[in-house]
Amino acid sequence: MSVNGSHSARSVGILVGSLRREAFTRKVAASLAKMLAPSLSARPIELSALDMFNQDFDAMGQTPASWTRFRQEVRAVEGIIFVTPEYNRSLPALLKNALDIGSWPFGHNRWAGKPGAIVGVSPGRFGAIAAAQALRQPASFLGIDLMPQPEAYLSVSEGDFDARGVLVGEASRKALEQFAQAFVQWMTRTR
Ligand SMILES: Cc1cc2nc3c(=O)[nH]c(=O)nc-3n(C[C@H](O)[C@H](O)[C@H](O)COP(=O)(O)O)c2cc1C
Repeated sequence: MSVNGSHSARSVGILVGSLRREAFTRKVAASLAKMLAPSLSARPIELSALDMFNQDFDAMGQTPASWTRFRQEVRAVEGIIFVTPEYNRSLPALLKNALDIGSWPFGHNRWAGKPGAIVGVSPGRFGAIAAAQALRQPASFLGIDLMPQPEAYLSVSEGDFDARGVLVGEASRKALEQFAQAFVQWMTRTR
């Protein structure tokens, strides 16, 4: 609540687990951000420049600038949403690397206590359910307060997106809208 009594939208960082130029996950994330507005202000937290985690870097005072920037961005948002593809029945290394960087050094876990949620996206039949489940393990260990339901495992194809990349496929769009509404409530509950 601001001084003049108006509510400012709470911030949510969206982490997309693919670097592919035409990534379905990135398109879904952009559509989700629009669905969350104006209740929540969702913005992507970019992972493409993140150096690979190495425990030595912090210990030796050689923390990469990409980590420092990322850690500040994670700290600054109130909620976290992961939009994950599935690689070999698990989460992509990109997201695991991000989780590890945000969790360290010991005693500086920046994820703890944030409300969060996971969206799985795949052209496969199962909508990245295995990736989403695998991601739950480190995310909940790190103290992210994950929304249990509704779950969103979207099985998508090119035809589910319009020319601008907006998710238009009816079944997936409806599921994502329900997910977005529930997440707005989830953020309220954990305020
Ligand atoms: C290394 C690799 C492993 C994959 N393994 C799976 C898998 O286990 N399950 C699945 O549904 N899709 C799998 N796929 C297909 C991805 O779901 C597909 O490439 C998808 O488009 C990636 O997400 P994106 O569009 O956001 O980049 C795999 C793709 C790659 C490159």
